[in-house]
Amino acid sequence: MSVVIITGVAGYIGGQTALLLKDAGHTVYGIDRRDPPKHLLGVCDGYLYQDFASDVALSWIIQKQPDAIIHCAGTSLVGPSVTNPSEYYNNNVVKTLKLLDIVCKSLPRTRFIFSSSAAVYGEPIMEGCHEVDPCIPVSPYGESKLIIDMMLESYHRAYSLDYVSFRYFNACGADPKGRHGQEPGATHLIAKYLEATRDDGTFKIYGVDYPTADGTCVRDYVHVEDIARAHALALDRKIPAGVYNLGSNQGTSVKQVVDRAMAITGKRPEIMFGAARAGDPPALTASSSKFDLVAGAWRHHDLDTIIQHAWAWYV
Ligand code: UFG
Repeated sequence: MSVVIITGVAGYIGGQTALLLKDAGHTVYGIDRRDPPKHLLGVCDGYLYQDFASDVALSWIIQKQPDAIIHCAGTSLVGPSVTNPSEYYNNNVVKTLKLLDIVCKSLPRTRFIFSSSAAVYGEPIMEGCHEVDPCIPVSPYGESKLIIDMMLESYHRAYSLDYVSFRYFNACGADPKGRHGQEPGATHLIAKYLEATRDDGTFKIYGVDYPTADGTCVRDYVHVEDIARAHALALDRKIPAGVYNLGSNQGTSVKQVVDRAMAITGKRPEIMFGAARAGDPPALTASSSKFDLVAGAWRHHDLDTIIQHAWAWYV
């Protein structure tokens, strides 16, 4: 069993990872600059209410001597990063650099597992991005994640930092046991659509004339519990250091998601068609074959299960 620190543990992916690691018997300490939502209270063996890069937090991290740090903390919305890049470079890049320096200096045996993003790829020409494909991010958010991926590799070469960076595609769904999910007011497609369905509201599809089969954007949806499972698997040093895509290897259009959600919920909100959202690439899908090869069957849930679990969380 491992001792693990999760930064950003009050969030969607950090919280799901804490639940899964605790279920598996690991010791989990969490850090977040906000209180955990009520449903996550008491999950961690210890909780520090601090910014992960504060002096207090850095001393606390050293004192715990963790086998791994899962670094989920960060600011993570594409649109706001365009209008406020300073927040993204500070919160993501500058603070992570501080944490990494502490890890290299004081925790040389700790594995560093990082929440990167598909946003590093920008607007790929090909579907099914591989980790070796060109990274040309189109937002400060994507840039901040790419800079950290580059720092990790440089620190690996220079200081033998042991790291795994996961480039998440579209994380969605909710805890299969109903303990955790997206918080109200979520901005992502499935969460927003299901909230609108539950509330008999309206849902807007952003853009209908993309160069895709049905004119709407194509994305790669991956269950948040499968993402959490990938982190648990990465505690094992048999997973080689490096960068890995986490996706389903399948593209699904916005219209296809909406159709499946209507079939599963048996309800529909009012659907509206709006202009394309700035910065949305037409298609962004993963090849996760690099991680599939080293981790085996880490994905347990398909799109229907994602929608079922998310719907159960909402209702
Ligand atoms: N969408 C709608 N209506 C909505 C919300 C979303 O039509 O109300 C569409 C978007 O336009 C997009 C698709 O649904 O085509 C998915 O949008 P999300 O907001 O759910 O997710 P993104 O694709 O924007 O986000 C993902 C990852 C980010 C990553 C980003 C890079 O979650 O981590 O792709 O483009 F940075």
